Amino acid sequence: MADAATGSAPRESEAALRALLERIMAEAKPAAADGAVASYIPALARVPAERFGVAISFADGLEIALGDADEPFSIQSCSKIFTLAFALERIGAPLWRRVGREPSGMSFNSLILLEREGGVPRNPLINAGAIVTTDALLALEGDWADQALGRMRRLGGAESIVVDEEVYASEETHGDLNRAIAWFLKAKGNLLRPPDAALRAYFRACATAMSCRQLARAARFLIGAPLSAETGAAADPVCGAEHSRRIRAVMRTCGLYDAAGDFAYRVGLPAKSGVGGGLIAVSPGRYSVCVWSPALDAKGNSAAGQRALELLVDALEPSDRHV
Ligand code: DON
Repeated sequence: MADAATGSAPRESEAALRALLERIMAEAKPAAADGAVASYIPALARVPAERFGVAISFADGLEIALGDADEPFSIQSCSKIFTLAFALERIGAPLWRRVGREPSGMSFNSLILLEREGGVPRNPLINAGAIVTTDALLALEGDWADQALGRMRRLGGAESIVVDEEVYASEETHGDLNRAIAWFLKAKGNLLRPPDAALRAYFRACATAMSCRQLARAARFLIGAPLSAETGAAADPVCGAEHSRRIRAVMRTCGLYDAAGDFAYRVGLPAKSGVGGGLIAVSPGRYSVCVWSPALDAKGNSAAGQRALELLVDALEPSDRHV
């Protein structure tokens, strides 16, 4: 029977869900052995590969967090969904004149694709697209980096959320490929602000450190369920339901870069990964979830994180439900 508040199946009890998540973590953890912690940003390479956390936030306010769910990690490209949400809220449809919304089928930092398409990034979830989206916010807001951090603190429900300065410095030092992307965008007339300003704000968003619990909370606006005071969830602080629906569409098609198709087949939820090992997914109307396991597969997505979400969906999504 459908739940009156969410229009979807009622959830299981807290105890049953906690037991389910414990089982899933035990089963998914070995998949980390097939991956490797990101090293192209040297500050990320020091994170222990065995860290593993999961947090899930249900539409009715129930939150379950297990393992290393309260340890902050580098959110990296998970930041791109929030940047997109902030930009759609402030700029709306004109953003799409500067960035597309098709899956790239190529790595997240591909230059070839950007050159072939004349400096219009394929979508806002690859590096080039996130740099353009960040530039659009900078042009409107001035020092966007500080404001973005303030918004992440509100969304994640913790004033303690900070930019990891060591990761940020590491990204600046080793970010030549992103620098090449930003200067190419400038050459093609698709940056309004100096490339270094756009890169600084982009790197700082990626270097923000948050826990699974904070990211699952921050992604609640994407659930799309009515949020009410009695569930402990404030009125939507990010963007309206229509933008949330569209962001979910972009996550579904582009959230895992050139693995988006395989992930859609295995999991089927709108999701976004980061090279820090974070993986956020949303079940429309039901829950947001964040898994963190730093060992990445060949395409830069958390190996155990993907496995955990696959098991979660097998258990929680009725096979006749259209996610
Ligand atoms: O710009 C970069 O390469 C990183 N700051 C973010 C890349 C990333 O997280 C891709 N995700 N899977």
